[in-house]
Amino acid sequence: MPSIAVIGSVNLDIVAKAAKLPAPGETVTDAELLSFPGGKGANQALAAQRLGADVTLIARVGEDASADAALALLQAGGVDLSNCKPVRDKATGTALIAVAPSGENQIVVAPGANRSLNPDDLDVPDTDALICQLEVPVDTVAWVARHYGGFFCVNLAPAMRIDAAVLQRADLIVVNETESEWYGATLAACGGLLATTRGAGTATLAQGGEIIAEAKPPAVDAVDTTGAGDTFTAALTVALVEGMEPADALSFACAAGSLATTKMGAQTSLPTRAEVSDVAK
Ligand code: RIB
Repeated sequence: MPSIAVIGSVNLDIVAKAAKLPAPGETVTDAELLSFPGGKGANQALAAQRLGADVTLIARVGEDASADAALALLQAGGVDLSNCKPVRDKATGTALIAVAPSGENQIVVAPGANRSLNPDDLDVPDTDALICQLEVPVDTVAWVARHYGGFFCVNLAPAMRIDAAVLQRADLIVVNETESEWYGATLAACGGLLATTRGAGTATLAQGGEIIAEAKPPAVDAVDTTGAGDTFTAALTVALVEGMEPADALSFACAAGSLATTKMGAQTSLPTRAEVSDVAK
C-alpha cells in the first residue's frame, strides 16, 4: 500500500445540473441545484485512498459549515485529515459548477482558505509520493519541488504560470488537452513523465518528448465529468508508485477517470480499486 501526501485544495461544489451550459451573457433556468464535496486536492486524495493508497491531505479550510460538508467524504473514506487545518476569517473554497446532460461542465472557483496554504507552516511529508495541483499558491508547489524527495506529481490545473524548476523536478506532470495548449512549449521543460488526457479521446504518456504509451479510455455513459482528471491523476500516481509498467498504469488511470464520470459529483463518483481493475483488465 503506497503512502501518498496530497498538498491541495478543498472546495464545496455547488452544482447546477442544467439542460445546457450557458453561453456568455446567457441565462439558463430550470436547473437542479446540488452540492458535493470537491476541490482538486481533496478529490485526488480520496481517489488515491479508494484505489488502495494510505493518504494524508494537507490543506486549509474556513471556520464555517461548508468545511464540514467539504470534508465529510474524506473523513468517512479514512483519509488522514490531521494536516487539514481551519483558517480564521477565511471561507472554505467554493466551486460553482454547471453540468450539462452530456456530462460537460463549466467551473468557477472562489478559492478562499486554499490561498492560505503557505510553505511557512508546512512540514515535508515522509511519503512514497506527493501530489500537488495549482488551486493552492504556486509558491507552495515550488517549495515542495525544492524540498520533497519522493515521487512528485504535479497536475497543472487550473493552468497558470509556474517555475520551470517545478516542471524539471516533477516525476509526473498531468495536463488535459486545454492545459496542454495553454502551456505549449513550456512543457518541454518536463524532466519526468508527461501525461496528457483528452476527455474520451486517447491519453498519452511521454518522456523526453517521445510518446511511450497511449490508452483510450473505456466508453461509458458520462453524466458528470467533474473530478475525472483528478481521478486520472491519482490513479496514475498510485499505479506508477506501485511499479506498474507505464502502459498498464496509463490504462488503469484511463479506466479510473472514465468510471468517475458515470455518477453526479466529484467525490461521490470515485471508483474503488476493484471497479477500476475490472474495467482496466
Ligand atoms: O477538478 C474538479 C474540481 O475542480 C471540482 O471538484 C471543483 O471543486 C474544482 O476545484
